[in-house]
Amino acid sequence: MTTPLLIADQVVAGYVPEVNILNGCSVELHDAELVGIIGPNGAGKSTLLKAIFGLIPVRSGRVELRATADQSSETVDITSLKAHQLVKQGVGFVPQTENVFSTLSVKENMEMGAFLEPDKVEERFETVCDLFPKLGERASQTAGSLSGGERQMVAMGRALMMDPRVLLLDEPSAGLSPAFQDEVFVNCRRINSVGVSILMVEQNAQRCLQVADRAYVLDQGVDAYSGTGQELLHDPKVIQLYLGTLAKGMID
Ligand SMILES: Nc1ncnc2c1ncn2[C@@H]1O[C@H](COP(=O)(O)OP(=O)(O)OP(=O)(O)O)[C@@H](O)[C@H]1O
Ligand SMILES: [Mg+2]
Repeated sequence: MTTPLLIADQVVAGYVPEVNILNGCSVELHDAELVGIIGPNGAGKSTLLKAIFGLIPVRSGRVELRATADQSSETVDITSLKAHQLVKQGVGFVPQTENVFSTLSVKENMEMGAFLEPDKVEERFETVCDLFPKLGERASQTAGSLSGGERQMVAMGRALMMDPRVLLLDEPSAGLSPAFQDEVFVNCRRINSVGVSILMVEQNAQRCLQVADRAYVLDQGVDAYSGTGQELLHDPKVIQLYLGTLAKGMID
């Protein structure tokens, strides 16, 4: 049996003492998977990514990461490690907002992404530009002057500068026009195709389920449903509760 790359097991976490936002939430990410997390506003989707990335304390439960590329090896406990330790272990995080340094150039943003390994900057920047040629073309332009879609590309590129095995993405398509949203999903697939496993929170539930290998529906801090993207897209309960009645006509 293969060991998942990343496991959140029965995670309980919150911000205010005694108030839990995650109430025993479990998700798994396997090698080369693109896994989506959808659910209503306030369900705890961003909170889950923050808990996995050690940005808020985990009150109970565990976060585990498989230590090596060997799919039969054991996982190690990474619960509540600091962000820089997680980055070193190959976990990257692109938060929902304020995910680029707008006054810095595209190239400088990339340099910040690789600050733990400054001697790798040029080589990694080349790799990221192979994936997103636009970042190379716009290398000296300030990130704040880019379009929303391009900025999102900078945010993802910056996370890729550390050559992660796992990328946590919080609503990469939020606030973008439909055309740019499509570009973001294509980019996620592109990143995924070079071997980076992705755990992606998305407000555009339908598009997310269309591109994801598997997905979880979060509701009130627990993983209420899970399945392949296609299974969830066609699950009457998921359609009724989370995709809205409009979705039914659109996916039939
Ligand atoms: N910094 C914070 N301090 C206190 N409560 C918070 C904080 N951030 C989020 N919460 C609360 O945690 C709950 C879950 O928020 P979270 O941001 O995880 O939801 P979400 O599923 O990502 O929603 P959205 O789809 O709107 O992004 C909400 O009730 C929210 O008010
Ligand atoms: Mg959120």
